[in-house]
Amino acid sequence: ETEWKEVSTEAAVREAGVCAVYAGDRELALYSVKGAIYATDNRCTHGEARLSDGFLLDDEIECPLHQGRFNVRDGLPMCAPLFAPVRVFPVKVDLGRVFVLVP
Ligand code: FES
Repeated sequence: ETEWKEVSTEAAVREAGVCAVYAGDRELALYSVKGAIYATDNRCTHGEARLSDGFLLDDEIECPLHQGRFNVRDGLPMCAPLFAPVRVFPVKVDLGRVFVLVP
């Protein structure tokens, strides 16, 4: 069942820029972009890499393994070697607490 899960605080995500969190047993990456927070699966769709170990450049996360980039707003791949989008999840912030809508 899909539900909002509390995963972090707004302050922690802002400070980190990009970080890994768990929502149940699903590992997600959270990104702070211009005051908004976005969430994706933390695993790259190309290989065994965690996007939270990558570099956040504006609204794109660069995978640490082969430097593919996803747009963190919609999960779309921006360049080779990526072709499969990474899954994105809705985020809401309530009184500084960050919630992600996950199945
Ligand atoms: Fe991410 Fe290859 S594992 S680009």
